[in-house]
Amino acid sequence: MPDKIKSRVDTLISNMSLRAKIGQLNQPETPTENNIEEFKEAVRRGEVGSILMSVGATAGNDAQGEINVDFYNELQKIAVEESPDGIPILFGRDVIHGHRTVFPIPLAMAASFNPELIKKCYRDTAIEATNDGVHWTFTPMLDLCRDPRWGRIIEGTGEDPYIGARIAEAVVAGLQGDDVSNKDSMLACAKHFIGYGASEGGRDYHRTEISDYSLYNYYLPAFRAAIKSGAMTVMSSFNDISGQPITSSRKYLTDILRNNLGFDGFVVSDYDAVIQLIKQGVAENSEECASMALNAGLDMDMHDGCYMDNLEKAVNSGAVSVDVIDEAVRRILTVKMKAGLFEHPYTKKIKLNRTEHLKDAREMAGESIVLLKNNDVLPINKSAKVGLIGPFSHERRSLLGSWTIDGKADETPTLAERMREVIGGNLNCISSSTLGWNSVNKNIAAADVVVLALGESWSATGESRAVSDITISSEQKELIKKAKTYGKKTVGVLFCGRPIAIEEIAEDLDAVLYAWHTGSEAAGAVSDILFGDVQPCGRLPVTLPRKATHIPLYYNVTSSGRPVNCYYGENPGNCYIDSMPTPYYPFGYGLTYTTFKYSDIKTDISKIAVSELKAGKKLRVSVNVTNKGTVSGKETVQLYIRDVCASIMRPIRELKAFKKIRIAPGKAENVTFDIGYEELGFFDDKGNYIVENGKVELYIGENCLTGKKTSIEIV
Ligand code: NOJ
Repeated sequence: MPDKIKSRVDTLISNMSLRAKIGQLNQPETPTENNIEEFKEAVRRGEVGSILMSVGATAGNDAQGEINVDFYNELQKIAVEESPDGIPILFGRDVIHGHRTVFPIPLAMAASFNPELIKKCYRDTAIEATNDGVHWTFTPMLDLCRDPRWGRIIEGTGEDPYIGARIAEAVVAGLQGDDVSNKDSMLACAKHFIGYGASEGGRDYHRTEISDYSLYNYYLPAFRAAIKSGAMTVMSSFNDISGQPITSSRKYLTDILRNNLGFDGFVVSDYDAVIQLIKQGVAENSEECASMALNAGLDMDMHDGCYMDNLEKAVNSGAVSVDVIDEAVRRILTVKMKAGLFEHPYTKKIKLNRTEHLKDAREMAGESIVLLKNNDVLPINKSAKVGLIGPFSHERRSLLGSWTIDGKADETPTLAERMREVIGGNLNCISSSTLGWNSVNKNIAAADVVVLALGESWSATGESRAVSDITISSEQKELIKKAKTYGKKTVGVLFCGRPIAIEEIAEDLDAVLYAWHTGSEAAGAVSDILFGDVQPCGRLPVTLPRKATHIPLYYNVTSSGRPVNCYYGENPGNCYIDSMPTPYYPFGYGLTYTTFKYSDIKTDISKIAVSELKAGKKLRVSVNVTNKGTVSGKETVQLYIRDVCASIMRPIRELKAFKKIRIAPGKAENVTFDIGYEELGFFDDKGNYIVENGKVELYIGENCLTGKKTSIEIV
């Protein structure tokens, strides 16, 4: 910490009353009409360190209204000019995947395998949100998730820790910008620490069981990367791990987060999580909740007021020491100062031109959409007669996805509108949800190609929105079946927030485009791909299972002792006797409008010593990738490793690098990866990173099932 900030913080703290210190640890939500005056009084007394700029426990599901910048400036003025220490309030809001301009849901952005573009989108986001007075966003959400029933899978980056880490870096860099104290930089918050994505059965807020070994190797890498990239805040998660609520766990919030991961910013609780320790059965009353959470290392209390109501008492009873309170205050004030809040506490709104942001949104959506199947139907010739049918042909709101507090459905073009811009009168469009089957019937009969716009509502995903089956409605499945009977080429466009059980849907379609909920420009991006103006290039950051009953199904599993590695198709009959257990579409999968051939995989050296790796030496792995088609295309070249024999079982495949490159038709590119210490080791259950001797296989290809490999020996 720069000495100047440290001494400013120390001076402030030495003059603060205990109550004002606790006020810095307090984050109420935006007042309603009923409590505005009372709220202003609390600000005046210095009892409001931060404000959650939304109302309600599940902010992403409720209409929040536009941000009233003048109102927040007025509160800030009271804090700066009238509160005892004049400390500005930190305003935080859930700006999850865009602000007024909505980018694809984070899971879809992960499918882009394009961290540079993700960074750019989060820069745009910070510019828009800071202009509305948001200093701090509760993003990136880094919960690794293997269960698509969980509604919050949409907010994360999927099932892989490596992608999670690369995206964490990109989001933090985009939000915080070159200098976090700039007016248009927004503080990032890595959440939810830790293990929330492993909620049992995908049921939101439920318990988890995560061994320390799995924690270090699967769940923590994205947080480690976010912290290394400068994330100054972390949100603790609602769940418990093996009976320890994270909210009150010194092991997770201090030993692991601070001591192992090196985090030195502040931790905010999740909404009402402190008082919930009573319900979780580890605290008897609110005073105990407050002292347990603070002593565990949780600095700021979101919404329940438990710190404000109890910490003075807890100091008097000896349950909490003033030193612990000072430490939490110090962390919060340090972040406030680093963020430049003392220099520019107020927001002066300027008129923003969002044209560039919308362009980025369209590009990002185009990079995120995954072509899953294409039996000679896409791209559609622009002179063909296209019948567009289905409940999502005129849909606006769901295209934006869940956790879209500031996006506007009425500004979001529909698929019908965007397709009409390209083919005009050749589009015949019907929403099957409003018009009967007879009209659908006529539409299909008149079309050369049928596009079915299908999917799930935005409200089927997000917080507290778990489902027990991962599919689309039975009416939509019926629509697919009926459409098939006409013998026309039929394309399914799936606007989904989560991975769905895909087998029965994909079987009856000639082409399948997984369009996710891809934001403000979702429809434009789908139309670009359907008509070949943009080449599809997204890749699955999660497995698409055949059936919901196959969950959990994820690529980075360890090998079983008996020959039944379901994912990799080894003896499938020994896995389930009643169904094929392999993924329908594996991790990393996605098609383009051309094909690529991989050849000549090799390394520059065949042996490397642990000591050399530690000293920074890397080995170079290279492969030739040839575009075998007639159009240019983008390929995501993926490198996986397998540590064949280690002191603990290692996954059959682990993604360790990727490169997304455009290759001209008929041309070949030599793609290289430099692999070293960071890629070749793993964590033990104490969080020590180790690289062991032995053989490591290096696989390169178009998805995790690639069999093309070479190997090296670590000596
Ligand atoms: C609860 C959610 O779990 C969290 O992600 C969000 O940031 C807070 N509410 C604030 O809305």
